[in-house]
Amino acid sequence: MPKRPYWKWLAAALLALSACAGAVAAQTKQVFEDTLRQRVQMCSACHGEQGRAGPDGYYPRIAGKPAAYLYNQLRHFQTGARRHNLMARLVSNLSEAYLWEIAQYFAALDLPYAAPPAPRMAAADMARGRQLALQGDPVLRVPACSSCHGEQLVGRMPATPGLLGLSSDYLNAQLGAWQTGVRTARAPDCMAHIARRLRPGDLAAVSGWLAAQALPARPVPAAPGAPMAMECGAHQAASPPPAVQEARNAQAGRYLALVGNCQGCHTRTGGSAYAGGRGIPTPFGTVFSSNLTPSTTGLAAWTADDFWRAMHHGQSRDGRWLNPAFPYTNFRLISRADSDALYAYFMGLEPVESAPTPHDLRWPFNTQWALQAWRWLYFPSADEAPQTVAPRMTDARIQRGAYLVQGLGHCSVCHMPRNALAGNRDMLSLAGGFIAGQSWYAPSLLNPLDGGVQDRPAAEVVQLLQSGRGGGERVSGPMAEVVRHSLQHLRPVDTEAIVAYLQSLPRVAAAQRPPAAAVRTPAWARAAALYDTHCADCHGAQGQGLRGADGSWAYPPLRANRTVLQATPLNLVQSVLYGGFGPSTADNPRPFGMPPYVLTLSEQDMADVLSFVRAAWGNNAAPVSALDVQRLRDGAAN
Ligand code: HEC
Ligand code: HEC
Ligand code: HEC
Ligand code: HEC
Ligand code: HEC
Repeated sequence: MPKRPYWKWLAAALLALSACAGAVAAQTKQVFEDTLRQRVQMCSACHGEQGRAGPDGYYPRIAGKPAAYLYNQLRHFQTGARRHNLMARLVSNLSEAYLWEIAQYFAALDLPYAAPPAPRMAAADMARGRQLALQGDPVLRVPACSSCHGEQLVGRMPATPGLLGLSSDYLNAQLGAWQTGVRTARAPDCMAHIARRLRPGDLAAVSGWLAAQALPARPVPAAPGAPMAMECGAHQAASPPPAVQEARNAQAGRYLALVGNCQGCHTRTGGSAYAGGRGIPTPFGTVFSSNLTPSTTGLAAWTADDFWRAMHHGQSRDGRWLNPAFPYTNFRLISRADSDALYAYFMGLEPVESAPTPHDLRWPFNTQWALQAWRWLYFPSADEAPQTVAPRMTDARIQRGAYLVQGLGHCSVCHMPRNALAGNRDMLSLAGGFIAGQSWYAPSLLNPLDGGVQDRPAAEVVQLLQSGRGGGERVSGPMAEVVRHSLQHLRPVDTEAIVAYLQSLPRVAAAQRPPAAAVRTPAWARAAALYDTHCADCHGAQGQGLRGADGSWAYPPLRANRTVLQATPLNLVQSVLYGGFGPSTADNPRPFGMPPYVLTLSEQDMADVLSFVRAAWGNNAAPVSALDVQRLRDGAAN
């Protein structure tokens, strides 16, 4: 990281953010329009209204930068090539097609720039900064910044950004991030070489000089053309992704791999699909997934029988017992025909060499005998029938739903309560549980007051699982990933079967909730005012939500909303602390965004506004304390 202490940026960031949050609140009530601008309005909480940042802030201006550059950055945040937790989280659920559209939207904005702040550097440093920017330093083999960033330093098409109109804190941080590898760009990464060649004082000098320059009258990025002073992979135009969602698959194995979301666990962030190496957190340490491509470090030597033994018995080709982070406790239920189809699909993939990462588990959990003991407790003999049987299993559709939910769909991996050994007498239980290492609660699918869908119209639940939103509800967190990577690709008959099965599950009688008046906190009036300032514009003065042009919910209602009313406020706190988008799906490719409040609201304010939301408009869930928020915030930070 650059020399400037981290807390100083954080303070600057907080200041800038509270300033723009105040500005947004002070505006008169905005009018809702069903446009892209409205969908990405949340971005302006940090990047300034319409993507323009204040001169003092750490938030970069994004308006007017080349679209391919912005798109590359959004993808890099997703893949981890550029590391920034908050940005990564905000865009993690969005499709490439939507990101491309968002990038084009901000690139097309033509907004005035603020006047640059007065320089705060010694004249000698300014001169050095100017020299680097306009002439470069042949001794250090650093070309002039202007040779790539455009003669006027306002960028160059198709994918090199301008360097003016950004704060020196931001510029410093980016160059520092390239030096330390926190930020990378497509290879060859010319900026990494340049940043590492600069001498210690150069970084501050060039950033300070750049930040003090006024912009030319027409700050339009220069045309492509003349070759770059060094080769830059990042400067290649990104080819726009196909506008349609990933094509629906025809091949049986590929379909089953989507239902089982094999890719979700078997692909490392930024790594090749199915090449493994992704860390799965467990209470005993991290387990790393295997390479499923037909390479020597993957499945090249495997037969269909080996594959079946792994899926059905949890045993690797070499006889090693596999860790149950690989959900073979569910997969053991799949048919041999489905296992063979999956095997055929993986053997047809492009081989990728990627050696397995050793698991990082505490003793004794890293031993084979511990796995054997665990299996003895929680892994029924592979051919035993599942215990959880719904009452009307004679119905073929419900049977198909059970096969998908219990087997390939492995819903119980998250929706099951777990004991201290991460097990359960019934490994297919759907009674609700906290997800290891993620600070999210997967609600009970047996209890209609929690996540159970027995009383909801089937069509609404089908829509929820297919598109991520149905009725006034939506999916978030890990469930949004399940919808994005798996459920949205299911054939309608399979989704309907899943819903039929979920609706046939036996109900668990739930305790009645107290009357609304009984759960009001003393800070009621203050909390109501906080809600009015921060939330009412989108969610409505009465928590009634707001519908878009097509009649579906743009902003979900908070009245009678299940996330709001859940007994544990964990998911509610997650949603409001970190905001974000629901999943991009074929039915809802361009979801609306919710701003994060982690930097705007104190823990007490957060507790008050959430307690208000849980007790207003007839809602009746217990209040949330500042301590709850703090605990969850600490747990949810990663
Ligand atoms: C909570 C504050 C916050 C919100 C909300 C936010 N961003 Fe960011 N964004 C940041 C910060 C901080 C950075 C700088 C990251 C870094 O240091 O690498 C950033 C960086 C970026 C960059 C890279 C800019 C550049 O010049 O390289 C892009 C593009 C971007 N954001 C787009 C968006 C979009 C689009 C949205 C809305 C979907 C959004 N951001 C919402 C805080 C935010
Ligand atoms: C050889 C061409 C080249 C030269 C010379 C060059 N840059 Fe860059 N620069 C790029 C490219 C390409 C990108 C986009 C990288 C990406 O996609 O992440 C970039 C990005 C940047 C960014 C990120 C901007 C943002 O909004 O986040 C900064 C800061 C930057 N360069 C500073 C400099 C400085 C300072 C110099 C001169 C000392 C310089 N660059 C010289 C090609 C160059
Ligand atoms: C919840 C995460 C998760 C999901 C979903 C998942 N896997 Fe795995 N898988 C793992 C982990 C972790 C391992 C490594 C276990 C070990 O090494 O002990 C693994 C191992 C395997 C192995 C054994 C490889 C070997 O070298 O021994 C096979 C085969 C496999 N998975 C296939 C699949 C298939 C097919 C799917 C989709 C139907 C799938 N997995 C879905 C996490 C997952
Ligand atoms: C990776 C963990 C994970 C897996 C796997 C998972 N879920 Fe979830 N699920 C969650 C979490 C967390 C929530 C709560 C957040 C939310 O409401 O979206 C949830 C919520 C739900 C809800 C309630 C949504 C609402 O708005 O009321 C339903 C229904 C559901 N899941 C069904 C399923 C089904 C069916 C499967 C298997 C095909 C499944 N889940 C697999 C984590 C998971
Ligand atoms: C710019 C508009 C906007 C503002 C302001 C806003 N939200 Fe949201 N909110 C959204 C959108 C859009 C979603 C749906 C996000 C998704 O699908 O993941 C959402 C989702 C939520 C959810 C999750 C609902 C569910 O069913 O899972 C809660 C809770 C919530 N908001 C509460 C709040 C609170 C409390 C505030 C004020 C502190 C607030 N929101 C401010 C737009 C907004």
